[in-house]
Parts: sequence; C-alpha cells; structure tokens
Amino acid sequence: MVSSYVYLLGLSQFLTSALSANTGRVCAPETFASLSLPSIDVLSIDAKLNNASFDVDDSTNAYPVATNKTVEVCQLTVNYTHLGWNDNVTTWISLPVDNWNGRFMGMGGGGWIMGTRGRLSQAVFGGYAAASTNGGHDEAATVKSWGLSSEGNVNWANMQDFSAVSLDDTASLGKAATKMFYGKPHKYAYWNGCSTGGRQGHMMAQRYPTQYDGILAGSPAINWDKFIPSEFWPQMLMNALDYYPSACELNAFTEHAIDECDALDGVKDRIISVPGLCKYNATSLVGKTVQCSSNSTVKITPKAAKYVTLVWAGPQDPSGSSLWYGLSHDATLTRLAGTNCTLPSKNCQPIPFQISADWQQIFLARNSSLDVADITYTEYIRHFRQSVNEYSSIIGTRDPDLTDFKQAGGKMIAWHGMKDPLIFFNGTENYYRQAMEIDPSIQDYYRFFAAPGADHCKGGIGFYPGSSLDSLVNWVENGTAPDTLRAIATPTGTDSAKLPLRTADLCAYPKFLTYVGGDASKASSFTCK
Ligand SMILES: *[C@@H]1O[C@H](CO)[C@@H](O)[C@H](O)[C@H]1NC(C)=O
Ligand SMILES: *[C@@H]1O[C@H](CO)[C@@H](O)[C@H](O)[C@H]1NC(C)=O
Ligand SMILES: *[C@@H]1O[C@H](CO)[C@@H](O)[C@H](O)[C@H]1NC(C)=O
Ligand SMILES: *[C@@H]1O[C@H](CO)[C@@H](O)[C@H](O)[C@H]1NC(C)=O
Ligand SMILES: *[C@@H]1O[C@H](CO)[C@@H](O)[C@H](O)[C@H]1NC(C)=O
Ligand SMILES: *[C@@H]1O[C@H](CO)[C@@H](O)[C@H](O)[C@H]1NC(C)=O
Ligand SMILES: *[C@@H]1O[C@H](CO)[C@@H](O)[C@H](O)[C@H]1NC(C)=O
Ligand SMILES: *[C@@H]1O[C@H](CO)[C@@H](O)[C@H](O)[C@H]1NC(C)=O
Ligand SMILES: *[C@@H]1O[C@H](CO)[C@@H](O)[C@H](O)[C@H]1NC(C)=O
Ligand SMILES: *[C@@H]1O[C@H](CO)[C@@H](O)[C@H](O)[C@H]1NC(C)=O
Repeated sequence: MVSSYVYLLGLSQFLTSALSANTGRVCAPETFASLSLPSIDVLSIDAKLNNASFDVDDSTNAYPVATNKTVEVCQLTVNYTHLGWNDNVTTWISLPVDNWNGRFMGMGGGGWIMGTRGRLSQAVFGGYAAASTNGGHDEAATVKSWGLSSEGNVNWANMQDFSAVSLDDTASLGKAATKMFYGKPHKYAYWNGCSTGGRQGHMMAQRYPTQYDGILAGSPAINWDKFIPSEFWPQMLMNALDYYPSACELNAFTEHAIDECDALDGVKDRIISVPGLCKYNATSLVGKTVQCSSNSTVKITPKAAKYVTLVWAGPQDPSGSSLWYGLSHDATLTRLAGTNCTLPSKNCQPIPFQISADWQQIFLARNSSLDVADITYTEYIRHFRQSVNEYSSIIGTRDPDLTDFKQAGGKMIAWHGMKDPLIFFNGTENYYRQAMEIDPSIQDYYRFFAAPGADHCKGGIGFYPGSSLDSLVNWVENGTAPDTLRAIATPTGTDSAKLPLRTADLCAYPKFLTYVGGDASKASSFTCK
C-alpha cells in the first residue's frame, strides 16, 4: 500500500509529503480521490500538510485552547456543487497527522458565516479530526451577492445550503475523509458551535439525527424566522416614534433596572438570575438627569421610557399580541438599539444590527437598494408574517420533535446566556419547553442550561460554561449525564475591580441556579431549584 503511493507520487514528493506514522496514508489528493456523495459533483480536492495555528475566532464556545500549539494536519479543501443547483460549496477538513483521538468534530459558524477553516484549529488541538464548511458563500461576501440570484429573487440553493444541506454534507464528507486517511472510521462524532453554530447543532439533531453522537449548541440562533425579525424591532421603533436614543440614555435604563432587580435573586452582583421577579417600570426614570460625559447630560423623557418599555416587551402586532420575546432587563440594549451620535447624546443616527437589516432588505424585501430606515410598522408586521410563512420550514430550526435523534442514541447539550443582547434567551427556553412537552423524558438525551449574566456565546459578568464539551464527551462515551455544567465568571473592565473570579454549576432546565447563602463566588453557595 505504502509503496504504491510512493511509486505514484515519485520519491521527492513522497519525502516532502506526510506519511502518517499511525496510518501509512499520504496526505495528497490521491488518497481522497473517491471522496464524494450521491447528491454532489466534486469540483476539486486539495490535500496538503499544514500546521494548524491559533488563528481561531475566540467567540465560539469551542474546545478551550490553553496554548498556542502547532499541530501538523492533513488539510483538505473540497469544492463541490449539488447536482442541478448551480451552487458552489467549499468544505474544509483537518486531520491531525499524529495523536488522533479517534473522534470527529463538525465545527459551526457565527452570524452569516457557516464556518471557517480557522475554527478547525480548536478541534485539532484537542486531537479531533474536524470539518467545517463555507455553506456555499465566502465569509467575506456581501449577503446580497449570495442571498439574491437577481433583484427580487432569493437564491434558494444558497439559502438551503446555509440553512441545513451543507451541514449534512460536511458531516458525511468529513467522516469519509477521516476513514480514508486513518484507515479506520471515527469512534464518536461531535458537533460544536455557538450562535449560528448553536442553530446548526439543533438543525443536525432535528433533520440529520444520525450524524452526530454528541451536539454542543451554545446561544442557539434557533427560531430564526421569528427572532431575526425581532432583532429589527428596536430599529423600526426608532423610526416609528421618531426617537433615536443615545447609548448613554439606554445604558441608564439598563443600569437602573439592574439596581432595582439585581438583589431579588439573593445576591447583589449586577446579575439578574430570576428575571420573572423583575417588575421594573421604565417610567420611574422619567425626569431624571443622566451624566453622559464630564460636560454632557441628558434628561430622560416619557418617550425614552416608552421606547425602552417596548424594546423590553418585544415585537407586538397591532392587536397588542406578542410576536416574540424581548431582551432581558440586564442585557445591553445598544447592540440591537444601536445609534451613532455626534456628541454623547446629540444627533443620533440609527445603526441596525447588520444581520437583522440584511434579513429585511435581502431575504424579505429582496431589494438591495431598500433603505431599511423606510420600513414602517405596517411593513414590519407584514415582513414578520412573511418571514414565518416562507422560512420557518427552511431555517426556523424549531421542530421540537427529537424522536429520531433520541432513537439514534444522540446526546445534546444546549446553553444560553440570560443577558444575551442578540438572541433572546426566552426563545431557547420556549423551544426546550416544547420539546419537553412532546417527550417528558427529554433529559435522557437533551439538556438545556441557563447561564445567568452571560453575554452572547461568552463574556458578560455572568457564568460561561467553557468546558461543556468535556461534559458532553463524558455523557456520550461514559453515559454520565451532566446534572450541572461548570461555569466561570471572569469579570472584565470596570467590573473586575469590584467582583472576584466566580465559579458556579449551571443547572439543567427546568432547574435554575439558586443562591442558598455563603460566599457568592463559590459554587457551593448555590443549588439547583
Ligand atoms: C510544522 O511545524 C514544524 C515545527 O515547527 C515544522 O518542522 C514543520 O515543517 C511544519 N510543517 C509544515 C507543513 O509547515
Ligand atoms: C500564535 O502563533 C502565531 C504564529 O506564531 C502568531 O501569529 C499568533 O499571534 C499567536 N497567537 C497567540 C494568541 O499567541
Ligand atoms: C466556484 O468558485 C470557485 C472559486 O471562486 C471558482 O473557481 C469556480 O469556478 C466556481 N465554480 C462554479 C461551478 O461556479
Ligand atoms: C475552492 O473554492 C475556494 C473558495 O471557497 C477557492 O478559494 C479555491 O481556489 C477553490 N479551489 C479550487 C481548486 O478551485
Ligand atoms: C424568560 O425566562 C425567564 C427564565 O425562565 C423567566 O423568568 C421570564 O419570565 C421569561 N420572560 C418571558 C417574557 O417569558
Ligand atoms: C409604569 O408606570 C406608569 C406610571 O406610573 C404607569 O402608567 C404604567 O401603567 C406602569 N406600567 C406597568 C407595566 O406597570
Ligand atoms: C465637552 O468636552 C469635550 C472635551 O473636553 C469638548 O470637545 C466638547 O466640545 C465639550 N462639549 C460641550 C457640549 O461643551
Ligand atoms: C458615525 O457618524 C460619523 C459622522 O457622521 C461617521 O463618520 C461614522 O462613520 C459613523 N459611524 C458609524 C459606525 O456609522
Ligand atoms: C427598491 O427600493 C428602492 C429604494 O427604496 C425603490 O426606489 C425601488 O422602487 C425598490 N424596488 C422595487 C422593485 O420595489
Ligand atoms: C470516563 O470516566 C472515567 C472514570 O471516571 C474518566 O477517567 C474518563 O475521563 C471519562 N471519559 C471521558 C471521555 O470523559
């Protein structure tokens, strides 16, 4: 076997290419020549040795990278198109040359980015063979360039790739390449992602339930058809009320709400752990003067209070019925209610959260010259309905029936920061509750953990469960279901002066982290209730 490869490649190429000590397989396109799937036409396969480095996006809930290692990998780039779709997908596969741990990992993306080659480093540092995909569009490409096939027309092939299809391909191609390189199949397959990556993990469990043995899904962008339009609600409201709040005003409301509600959970730590107890009323700030900088102040108006109240409530239809959730009181408002002001509180212009504006402009209006500031309340409500009608089955990712995943023996851990300023915590809770109603024994294979005070995917002053992957592996391979997830709060900036490093064990829903007394920086001072 080895000698025939040597013969085919020629001696000099052999000397400069990798011959894995474990496997005898050469890292060259020939090794992977038969890589394909019935649904695709492979356009090119590139395979070469590379050193994975620490070029990772730090914002995903991925395998913790302790050191800036150098791990030699066989790096594959597979370009393909789906038969009859006229799409163009790139999938990256990284196979550690030495010390493969026998496992395979699919790595997720964030925002419009399906995945990146860089993120594979995190997995290969942990010994995993790993794969990720660009989902049919380059990460730097404008949404217009891949979302529309022409003005007025959605590129449905690219939308299907982004939603689901390329994820299934990536798992199949990645596993097949793993087997070709090591000469034996992987023992366990894991998914690891946060945000869009968390949605992708849920998509795998819902639609491709046999691909992954274990799925780690942080801050999941599930309920996409509803929550993405909801992210635009704060911007539409600014235009509807003709009121453009400064960050200074918005932060004043957030801080005031935290002052009022923080202690209701028993600990004064600027974290609202039991949001249901918070009855803060924004009108209580009306008339107060807020210091925005050393020489600038702003007086809070009734309109400001009305605005913030509506943002916290979330989108409502004309009858006053709620269409989706709002942000938690301790979540930063300025991500979705962004403005750009010339002075701390003067001449503010709206700055929509980009993904929510893209969704309105490209996927709903399908008009790349539309100014999203022109979207009226009536059009917004129409777009909301359109989003659900046209996209729920494609990218909603909220099918609560996980029977097939259960039967396949899969395990899934989801977690969500309770002060996430981008993806509404309550949407994930809502999904989990529905799944629990369908199958009361859901905890046997799918557990959800609320992370008080944690921001989107990580950060914030709250508890980030950075070692969840270890808990997942232990569940899949040892059968040890995690009742709690170890989490650490590492306050930064001004917070770090006031708060120590804290540890807590996050609770499996429907239980929540509950303070029972003692040093609030110690996990033993909390229980699950
Ligand atoms: C990877 O790094 C090692 C150690 O620095 C080096 O010997 C090797 O040549 C590098 N491999 C590649 C493909 O660059
Ligand atoms: C890791 O190493 C690479 C290559 O030496 C370097 O460019 C990068 O800055 C390092 N990253 C960190 C976080 O140390
Ligand atoms: C796919 O994209 C690559 C790189 O941009 C290009 O070389 C190739 O021609 C494209 N293939 C198809 C079928 O569009
Ligand atoms: C594969 O596609 C990528 C774009 O995703 C491109 O950079 C690369 O050149 C393509 N490879 C080949 C061999 O066409
Ligand atoms: C959101 O979830 C939290 C935690 O379960 C709960 O206390 C709160 O009432 C929920 N908010 C809404 C609007 O459902
Ligand atoms: C908030 O306070 C105002 C003024 O006291 C009152 O009119 C309003 O009903 C209150 N809102 C809620 C939700 O309690
Ligand atoms: C406030 O102070 C800054 C810096 O000292 C100065 O640039 C700015 O013009 C002042 N603004 C007002 C409204 O006085
Ligand atoms: C904010 O406004 C200034 C002045 O108009 C402009 O130069 C800057 O690019 C804007 N920033 C953003 C993030 O839009
Ligand atoms: C797209 O939006 C622009 C700017 O609002 C508008 O002038 C144009 O009529 C719209 N195109 C279509 C096809 O609706
Ligand atoms: C399985 O359990 C054993 C014994 O507790 C432990 O040493 C090992 O690390 C666990 N395996 C995994 C994959 O977590």
